[in-house]
Amino acid sequence: MSAWQAVILAAGAGTRMRSATPKVLHPVCGAPLIQHVIASLYNAGLERPIVVVPPDAETLRNYLGTNVDFAVQESPLGSGHALACAREVLGKDSDNILVINADCPLVPPEGIQLLMRCHEETKAELTLMTADGADQDGYGRIIRDASGAFTAIVEEREATPEQREIKEVNGGVYAFRTASLWPNLATLKPSSNGEIYLTDMVACVHQSQGSIATVQAGDPHDVLGVNTRVDLANAEAVLRDRIREQHMLDGVTLIDPSTTYIDSGVVIGKDTVVYPNTHLQGTTQVGKGCRIGPNSLLKDSVLGAGCRVVSSMLEGATLDADVDVGPFAHLRPGTHVGEKTHIGNFVEVKESTLGVGVKSGHFSYIGDADVGDNVNIGAGTVIANFDGVTKHRTTIDENAFIGSDTTLVAPVRVGKGAATGAGAVVTKDVDAGETVVGVPARPKPKKSSKKPAQA
Ligand code: UD1
Ligand code: MG
Repeated sequence: MSAWQAVILAAGAGTRMRSATPKVLHPVCGAPLIQHVIASLYNAGLERPIVVVPPDAETLRNYLGTNVDFAVQESPLGSGHALACAREVLGKDSDNILVINADCPLVPPEGIQLLMRCHEETKAELTLMTADGADQDGYGRIIRDASGAFTAIVEEREATPEQREIKEVNGGVYAFRTASLWPNLATLKPSSNGEIYLTDMVACVHQSQGSIATVQAGDPHDVLGVNTRVDLANAEAVLRDRIREQHMLDGVTLIDPSTTYIDSGVVIGKDTVVYPNTHLQGTTQVGKGCRIGPNSLLKDSVLGAGCRVVSSMLEGATLDADVDVGPFAHLRPGTHVGEKTHIGNFVEVKESTLGVGVKSGHFSYIGDADVGDNVNIGAGTVIANFDGVTKHRTTIDENAFIGSDTTLVAPVRVGKGAATGAGAVVTKDVDAGETVVGVPARPKPKKSSKKPAQA
């Protein structure tokens, strides 16, 4: 295979989004548009693309980091001009250049590979991905002559009413032979709105007798371009369907796919059942045989096998196997829950580790705490972790019993097998095996061995 380089065009003004956020950073199924494009290129074997960005693209540059190279288009003078701006950064190393719009998040890697293969096999100067069968509004129309040969792309604003009826459209993914690309690009003239259209390369190559090949997108939605928020919602709907279908084919039961929202990076183990109205977001990984939902939101969380989550919210939480959460629990970042632990209704946990077999069944706050194995946390327990200035940690050692309505004023430690009475306010460490009661909590007086005096 000959040498390829990839260029992503991302310097357009994106005005149709009417947004302060750069268009290509708007998310689809949890990842920005451009991230989907980068992932597809990567999976097609094209690493380190050159991204053409506008001059003030700090947010975009920060997001993309060091995995790509950048070229700058000083002003948005059109997609053809944008590609010309990448020339210096590209250097002279490649035989072919793959160019893709940053706003088409649904192009699969297989489609890119097919385009590259066809380009090499046909030895074309230019190979394009086209689509036929979806709504053509807004796309460049493919013009063919009587013999069916591809002669030009006409952009919608320049199209005649008859041309607008053409269903075959330009997908915004192109392969160019490097040697002829730059001289041809230099000949393009601005269109009626002053922009230099990359799509005019077709007529240019055609007129110079160069060969042009096309590959058709496997599914017309593959080339869905996002220009407005309506397109964004359409892209989201298509990708969401694809993600759900893949999980089901991989052995996950979705009771009601239409109300199950799964981000593109989520991993779910076999035989897990996801109940309606559940959102699995970000980098969430759910183990095998779990039951998630209904009405749950899991973000950036990792769940071991056999967990059960009902009507709860988990953010940045890690659950070992067979953990039982909810209904109505909130596990916040930094929560690590050990095996077979039960977190019940109205329990909030933050920056805390809970051991194996812990029970916290009813309305409690566990913040900045390390809780040992088999600790029982009674209803209404609150860890007072914040003194108004600083957060402090609390330790509850294994087998301790925290009575209902206990307040643990951090920093404090409750020793192994110790107990607190109902309503205790614990301000001092409790020794192992000791029982404290009251406000502030003190060791419970030992029962006197003396018999009461006889009357
Ligand atoms: C473009 C194509 C159209 C195709 C459609 C597919 C052109 C002229 N038209 O239309 O034929 O059917 O995509 O989705 O290319 N860009 C720059 N600098 C600029 C202008 C644009 O980098 O000065 C980038 C944009 O960020 C975007 C891409 O080029 O990623 C395409 O631009 P956009 O304005 O979205 O073009 P469309 O109207 O969608
Ligand atoms: Mg577009």
